[in-house]
Order: sequence, then structure tokens, then C-alpha cells
Amino acid sequence: MSTSDKTFSKRNFLSRINARWPWLKLVAVIIIGIMSILDLLDITISRTGDPLSTIRIAPMSKHVRATTRDLNGKKLVALTFDDGPSPETTPRLLDILQEKDVPATFFMLGVMARNNPDIVKRASKEGHEIASHTMYHQNLIKISASAVQSDIEESRAVFNNILGKTPSFTRPPYGNINDSVRKFVKTPMILWSVDTLDWKSRDPNSIIAVTLDEVHDGAIILMHDIYSTSVDAVPGLIDTLRFNGYEFVSLPELVKIRQVNPLPGYAYYNFKP
Ligand code: NI
Repeated sequence: MSTSDKTFSKRNFLSRINARWPWLKLVAVIIIGIMSILDLLDITISRTGDPLSTIRIAPMSKHVRATTRDLNGKKLVALTFDDGPSPETTPRLLDILQEKDVPATFFMLGVMARNNPDIVKRASKEGHEIASHTMYHQNLIKISASAVQSDIEESRAVFNNILGKTPSFTRPPYGNINDSVRKFVKTPMILWSVDTLDWKSRDPNSIIAVTLDEVHDGAIILMHDIYSTSVDAVPGLIDTLRFNGYEFVSLPELVKIRQVNPLPGYAYYNFKP
């Protein structure tokens, strides 16, 4: 059989199908249409921190298109720093972030914030998001509901005293969440998708290598500003991620651009496009 014969028989086959089932083409068009609409809706599924709990779908606000900076269509990452602020390390980190023009999100401990209010104010003034890592870094799933409540309330009061407002985001220590945590943490809970393990390695090169290995668009990168080795890693980390096409955003910017409306009682691990 020659090539032209094959082409002819294929065309013949299609016209025979068309003659026998004229509605088939319409069905195909409808299926493709439905798939495109589902694709446009791109629903984000966010797991809660408790491994036993079921998957929850975070409702999204669809009405606003992000307009901050020119970040639409860009690969985005959010740097987050836990457990501070520390007078030994955080000011140097703030210097680096200022020099590199990178906004970050700080999940501060209430007790550290209370002892270092000027650092909290400086970080906020320089455009960083101040979020809560609770008051005393207790493992909230191991303490009573009333102890959870009082820890959260105490931390809210501390941030309110220093900044005149309570934080919009909370990161429960160890990412541990149960029903009392969901009930008393009055903000969305933001976990992470890239764990640099900086507290363990205490090695800037390792921090950068782990991040490069796991980073993705919409990633939330977990670090700790209380270790000088973590701060040491930041300039190289920023340069490397920028070289790889990433833009840095604070959490409020990230949720806005990704058109997510994070809800209290829900946990979020990333904000992928
Ligand atoms: Ni922590």
C-alpha cells in the first residue's frame, strides 16, 4: 500500500464516521469546552496540617486580578523566617533584605517580639509582613484547649501593643494543628512547602542546595532568623533564586496575586498558580 493510499483510506474512514454519527463532532467540541472551563477555574486544594484530617478545598475569591507590581505570570517565592526576632541575627538579616530589595514574612514569637519591639517595628516599616508563631513556641497539640487559647491571646496582645494591629497569619509551632488550634487561631494558618532544614544543617551551602532542589512557583520557604548560618545563606539564596527566574513576595502579595482568600481555621502549604 502506497502513502497516498493510506492517506486516502484515513480520510475515507473519517468521512464514514462523520456520515454515520454526525453528532460526534459536536460532542467532542462540548467535552473540550468543559475541560477548558475547568482549567480556567483552577481550584487550589489545600491540606490541613493534621495528617488525619480530610482534604479541604480553600474557597477562592475570583473577582480581583492582582495588580501589585508586575508579578503576573512570574515565578514567585515567599521567604519566611521563624522563631525571632533576635537582636543577634535579625538586624543583619534586615540589612541584607533591604540591600537586596526583598520582602519577607516573619513568623515571630510573641515572647521574642515583646523583648525586641524595635526590631519588630523596623521589620514592619521596611515592608516585611509580621506574622505570629504563637507566644511561647509550645507544641499546641500537646496542651489543653484553654492553654492554646491563652497562648494565642497573649501573642495577639503583644503584636497589637507593638504594631497597633494583630497579625493576619499564624504558623503553629512544628506545623502541628488540631481542633483547638483551628478554633483559637483566629487567622489562616500558613505552613511551608520548602523546608530548608537550616536549624539542622547550620550550613549556608546546604540551605541553598535544599531550596534549589525543592523550590517551585508559589513556594513558601521555611527558615529561622535566629541562626547566623541561616542569615549567612540569605544573600546567596536570593541571588541563586533570582538567577533561576524567581521573584520574591511577601505572603499578602502572594495570596493576592494567586487570588486566594485564605480563611481562619484552614492551613495553607503553598500558593501554586
Ligand atoms: Ni518554630
